[in-house]
Amino acid sequence: MNDKIQLLQDKNEQALKGGGEKRIESQHKKGKLTARERIQFLLDEGSFQEVGKLVTHRSTNFGLDKQKFYGDGVVTGYGRVNGRLVYVFSQDFTVLGGSLAEAHAEKICKIMDMAMKNGAPVIGLNDSGGARIQEGVVSLGGYADIFYRNTMASGVVPQLSAILGPCAGGAVYSPALTDFILMAENTSYMFVTGPNVVKTVTHEEVTSEELGGAMTHASKSGVTHFTAPNEVELIHQLKQLLSYMPQNCEEESPVYPYELGNEVRPKLNGIIPENPNQPYDIRDVISEVVDGESFFEVHKEYAENIVVGFARIGGKSIGVVANQPAVLAGVLDINSSKKGARFVRFCDAFNIPLLVFEDVPGFLPGTDQEWNGIISNGAKLLFAFSEATVPRITVITRKAYGGAYDVMNSKHIGADLNFAWPTAEIAVMGAKGAAEIIFRKEIAESEDPSTKLAEKEQEYAEMFAHPYRAAERGYVDEVIIPENTRTKLLDAFKMLENKVEHLPKKKHSNIPL
Ligand code: HXC
Repeated sequence: MNDKIQLLQDKNEQALKGGGEKRIESQHKKGKLTARERIQFLLDEGSFQEVGKLVTHRSTNFGLDKQKFYGDGVVTGYGRVNGRLVYVFSQDFTVLGGSLAEAHAEKICKIMDMAMKNGAPVIGLNDSGGARIQEGVVSLGGYADIFYRNTMASGVVPQLSAILGPCAGGAVYSPALTDFILMAENTSYMFVTGPNVVKTVTHEEVTSEELGGAMTHASKSGVTHFTAPNEVELIHQLKQLLSYMPQNCEEESPVYPYELGNEVRPKLNGIIPENPNQPYDIRDVISEVVDGESFFEVHKEYAENIVVGFARIGGKSIGVVANQPAVLAGVLDINSSKKGARFVRFCDAFNIPLLVFEDVPGFLPGTDQEWNGIISNGAKLLFAFSEATVPRITVITRKAYGGAYDVMNSKHIGADLNFAWPTAEIAVMGAKGAAEIIFRKEIAESEDPSTKLAEKEQEYAEMFAHPYRAAERGYVDEVIIPENTRTKLLDAFKMLENKVEHLPKKKHSNIPL
């Protein structure tokens, strides 16, 4: 018996060594942790249970039979984050460059299947040279098996991807199919074709970092939702992100203890500038309204004219979507519409109520926007809100102009409650633009056109540059003093706690992709 136990211990020890000391050292020299160290940082102490530790590949191609490593370049299993079950796979770059082939893929698929059956999030820690070249098409098949499961799991359990090394070629599509991507700065990159291919095809000279590094994907492409200066910080963000979401689509997010006190926030009365064309930072409004430091911004560097993120109100998770008057006057454009829509759909899929702050002058005009499809991209946000059945509340802080009024979670597209501040202006457009159009002839024929324009502008503003026409129609449920926003929302979200709404029976909808 002792011999047999010894044999098992030897095998386990071998597995823990991954690709060996030298390769572990080289991994550390690059500023990267090993696959097992990452898991250790991520999971509650002692909670990790490994699955498939002794799996090896079955290939004999190109001398692979002499390069067998227990685990086949990926550590898989389950454990707890702040006491909650998660499934995890962590690619081991020290073993054949973390490359993915048949056995490696089977291990990932196995824990994804377990996650689906048992209703808990899947966390992928990606660090891989891509398809294992020696195994050929079997590697491609392995990727596709994962892509399929990513798609099946979408909306069932949260899927989070950390990119902690190379992620190139078709390998990028597994993270892209998941809900959130986090990238480590300077040590990770993602691209479909690398700098050499780019140079051959388009003659552009670009480094890996410029082409697909963390900052590129955070600010230019929007592929990554978060970046972190190092892996430890990234894993910390990952845990924080998890804290806002439920285990699966049937459950609610965890509730954090919150003791109610005086919830009036006088600071909110002074945020909107006297001049309606002056910017202000919507984050100042958000942080006054939500619990303490609970706002956790998503996609911070991308399409900054809209702000999205998770927060808590009265201890419960909400998703916040807010126009940002401090950037491009908070206008809606292609990227901000896509950013908002994707976030709304995640929240709706996982029972996270939505809170919208609206201050939007409309959609961004111009050939660039039209030719790149502001019509179908703007429609994504409209569609996402319309389809969402979670509790939905809007607070109009200032401008709610044009089609953007409809899009930003108006009552007409199913919002449960719309509040407006007394500073709200709910109209087809701003008073000046409106006066120029509807009184064009009158102004042109006037002896003093500029005085006439000012007069007509005033007339239009008196008619519409306030929330009361909308309130008369019931489009706004209540005009509230800004300082009372938090108390109103605490009550309103509580009132909506048991909301049930079903969409018409269908196979699935057809969002304008
Ligand atoms: C097999 C691989 C590998 C791969 C790396 N290795 N990538 N083995 N298949 N895809 C091995 C290396 O041979 C090396 O082994 C060890 O891993 C470490 O790699 P290094 O090159 O020494 O590391 P580094 O200098 O950090 O460079 C990392 C790298 C480079 C940039 C990822 O290894 C690289 O370019 N690899 C090939 C990438 C690639 O073309 N992959 C296929 C993409 S196509 P030794 O024994 O020498 O230490 C793809 C399609 C997916 O992925 C399609 C899905 C639909």
